[in-house]
Amino acid sequence: MNVLMIAPGYPGEMPYFCRGLARRGARVYGLSDVPEQDLPPLAREHLSGYLRVPNLTDEDAVVRAVVAGVGGHQIARVVCLWEPGVVLAARLREALQVPGMPVAQAQTFRNKDLMKQKVTAAGIRTARHASATSVAQVREAAHAIGFPVIVKPIAGAGSMDTVKAASAEELERALARVQSYDEVNVEEFITGEEFTYDTICIAGRVVYENVCYYRPNPLIARSTEWISPQTIALRDLSPKDVQAGIALGHDVLKALDFGTGFTHMEWFYTPKGEAVFGEIAARPPGAHTVDLMNFVGDIDLFDGYAEADLTGTFSGSLARKYNAANIFKRAQGTGRIRRIEGLESIMARFGEHIVHVDLLPVGAERRNWIQTLVSDGYVVVRHPDLQACYEIADAIGTDLQLYAS
Ligand SMILES: Nc1ncnc2c1ncn2[C@@H]1O[C@H](COP(=O)(O)OP(=O)(O)O)[C@@H](O)[C@H]1O
Ligand SMILES: [Mg+2]
Repeated sequence: MNVLMIAPGYPGEMPYFCRGLARRGARVYGLSDVPEQDLPPLAREHLSGYLRVPNLTDEDAVVRAVVAGVGGHQIARVVCLWEPGVVLAARLREALQVPGMPVAQAQTFRNKDLMKQKVTAAGIRTARHASATSVAQVREAAHAIGFPVIVKPIAGAGSMDTVKAASAEELERALARVQSYDEVNVEEFITGEEFTYDTICIAGRVVYENVCYYRPNPLIARSTEWISPQTIALRDLSPKDVQAGIALGHDVLKALDFGTGFTHMEWFYTPKGEAVFGEIAARPPGAHTVDLMNFVGDIDLFDGYAEADLTGTFSGSLARKYNAANIFKRAQGTGRIRRIEGLESIMARFGEHIVHVDLLPVGAERRNWIQTLVSDGYVVVRHPDLQACYEIADAIGTDLQLYAS
């Protein structure tokens, strides 16, 4: 089976998906805009061929190049697990007459306004919202919705340029942050805790599901540098709040008529006990969250996804043995990492529960913490008991410190 995979080398999880597809018997053909020799070795090892295009965002040109490159060969799947390529993948499916998500449907997973319209039309609770293409429209929408509001790019990801405005004055300041975008979404601000709902589906049937808890909410984590944000894949999916989110997730997948593949939804749980839809993507969660899900049950979802997409079956274990927390670290200071403090004592205290440590080495240039949640590195902890998992995660938040200068 020939599979065309967009961006097999980036983000960091993609080579593992590439391997998963190849191990399940696919001949994987990569498509991206980087030189082949710059792909991670793991991706190169599992590719049967590679097409480099000058620019992945020039979708018309990419479609022409791929159609010409494929010639008479039969492509069975076009796969993209990377947010910016989701619509391009659908365009390629249509051009090559490959089954899978078409363009109109892919757009509902990329455009936050379209997405919320569909979800609202199905009677699902989400933030009141309006799209806006001018400053005047943003002001108008904010006043119609009522403060506080959230303003964000219509096709954003990773909380980039998502801003909260509690008043008309704050809105004026927020406008400067989003002025470079042609279109933004203005939304009612939802107060509550934030979670994910992640699935692998086969023809609309959920075959694997997961819920992560964001500690704290991404918007707070993304605007306060000293915080070490945590993403925690929950072992127990039976509590009332988690169940409310799962029920919401099922409704959303049905409303958007999702077929086969990975999904990543975000939702709020309000103090009143209501689950509210946030957003959904037709791809796995990023920031090493697939690894977290794997650590929960000692499974391999890179393989599980490939199996689901290629053969229409899912044979991975659904047992949930651990809570798995990812703690993202940001160094103090700017420039290069000069020292790391507290790692030895953390390992001495909690070593048996720490399953992965990936911190920037001394001498490395700090990453941009606003652009990447992974920041200057991360530590993964797992524990069958949630409270114990929180305590270890919090200790890593406070007692492990990186210093830069
Ligand atoms: N309507 C809203 N009410 C409250 N918080 C919001 C709302 N929209 C976004 N946020 C906050 O901003 C973060 C990023 O917004 P989101 O819609 O998830 O965009 P992105 O695609 O950047 O992840 C959310 O995780 C949440 O913390
Ligand atoms: Mg989000």
